[in-house]
Formats: sequence, structure tokens, C-alpha cells
Amino acid sequence: MSAQNLLPGQTIIVTGAATGIGQAFALGAAIQGAHVIVADMNSADETMDQIAQAGGKATSVRVDVSDDASVRSMAEAALKATGRIDGLINNAAYFREIRLTAFEDLDPEQWERIFQVNVKGVWLCSKAVMPAMRERQSGSIINIASVVAVAGQPGYLHYVATKGAVLAMTKGLAKECGKDGVRCNVIAPGFVITDATRNRPVEWQQSFLKARAISREQRPDDLVGTALYLLSDLAAFVSGQTIVVDGGHIMY
Ligand SMILES: NC(=O)c1ccc[n+]([C@@H]2O[C@H](COP(=O)([O-])OP(=O)(O)OC[C@H]3O[C@@H](n4cnc5c(N)ncnc54)[C@H](O)[C@@H]3O)[C@@H](O)[C@H]2O)c1
Repeated sequence: MSAQNLLPGQTIIVTGAATGIGQAFALGAAIQGAHVIVADMNSADETMDQIAQAGGKATSVRVDVSDDASVRSMAEAALKATGRIDGLINNAAYFREIRLTAFEDLDPEQWERIFQVNVKGVWLCSKAVMPAMRERQSGSIINIASVVAVAGQPGYLHYVATKGAVLAMTKGLAKECGKDGVRCNVIAPGFVITDATRNRPVEWQQSFLKARAISREQRPDDLVGTALYLLSDLAAFVSGQTIVVDGGHIMY
């Protein structure tokens, strides 16, 4: 892919960008002319290499999205590198660690941790970028939820609850931040093949495939166009919305 120009000169932070869906968002934004802050708790060398090979610009930042000081350092690093923050994709999540478990058997400690990362993390990152967005009276925040928050899903009640919270939180944020020119929206992916999901039960994966209008595997790239749209001025009057990108499984 060659460099294009949907996000010229913008600075976009993508959390959880070391791998999977976040990596695809980071590369997609860089190809569209953004300087991407590749934020993750783990090494993001692979993402940085991909962006460099595509001729894009990026800065790698280590962050734990559940830690206020760490998140504030991430925003400071973005401002130090580029002087602005135009977009934030809250993609990092406690996700690959979860296993199908009846709700009565869930581990209370895991319940606490998943809310720390998936809910508190979205709040912390959103508040860390707000001063820079408010100053420019412009910004786009995209929160990554899941179809499980819309459709329900047995075996992951803590995860489902966090993604439901992300949907509701985005609506509240959108109402609160509109006066500052900041838009907040949700992308709800279907079952996407990443390192986090590759080992989920095959029959379970097959059931998703069969239920789709477009009956094929969903890949991280399938989500990138929607994110670029929501980051860009094409979506200048779109806020508080949830866009389900799942090949036509859930229709509502
Ligand atoms: N893969 C799917 O089927 C699917 C479906 C619906 C929604 N989602 C959502 O999409 C997002 C990405 O999923 P994925 O499949 O790419 O997962 P993944 O596990 O491959 O990627 C998640 C990334 O987040 C990082 N991360 C985790 N905790 C962090 C923390 N506290 N601070 C900073 N970084 C942290 C991880 O290091 C990893 O790089 C998640 O929000 C997930 O809930 C995924």
C-alpha cells in the first residue's frame, strides 16, 4: 500500500498496538499520513517495522492503560513528539487471557483486573488526551467494544460486562465532550482471527462464520476502514454511535 492522505499531519494514539487489531489500526492510520503513537505494555517492534516499511511515521510508547501515571506519560510523549493529539483508539484490553468459564466460577481477581484495563483504562486514556483535544477544539476518540456487548455471549460474563460498559461510557463521553469539538464512537468487532483468538474452540469459531451474511473469517484489516472514517473529517457529525463490523452477523 502506498501513502495516502486521509489524516495528514495528525497525531493518532493507538493503545494495544503491538499486535492484532491495534497493529492494523496503527498501520492503517500511518498509511493515511498520521504520526502514530504506538502504545502498548509490550514491545511493539513489529508494528514499528511495518510502519517504517510503509514509509509512515510513528513513536513507540510503553504504557499500562490501567495506570494513571503511565497513561499521562503516554500523552506527554505524544505531545513531546508532535505537539498535538488528534485521535485516540482505545483498543488495549484484557482479552487474550480469558477462557470460557461459567459465570458462577469466574475468578474475583480476574473480574477486578478486567475492569481495571477494559473500563478504567478507557477512562484514563480519554481524560489524558482531552486537554490537547480541547485546546484545538477537535478530536476523535474510538473505543473498541465487541459484538458480545450487543448480542450477549455465554462464558465470558466479566468481559461482556466490560464491553457493555464501554458502549455506555462512550455515549456519556460523547455528550460531555461535544462542546469541546471531540467526537466519541464505538467499533464493535465480531470474532476476529488474531493471536488472542486463534486457539478458541473450532466449533465456536465455525458458529460465528455460519451466522454471518458474509461467511468468511474476519481479519484485523476488516476493521481499519471504519476506524479511518471515524478518525477523519468524513465523520465530522458522527458521535456517540456504535458501528458493528462483523460481516453482517448482528443486525440492529
Ligand atoms: N479478536 C477478536 O475476536 C475481538 C472481538 C471483539 C473485540 N475485540 C477487541 O479488540 C481489541 C484487540 O483485540 P485483539 O484480538 O487484537 O487482542 P490482542 O490480545 O492480540 O491485543 C491486545 C493488545 O493490548 C495490549 N494490552 C493488554 N493489556 C494492556 C494494558 N494494560 N496496557 C497496554 N496495553 C495492553 C496487549 O499487549 C496486546 O498487544 C480488544 O479491545 C478486544 O477486546 C477483539
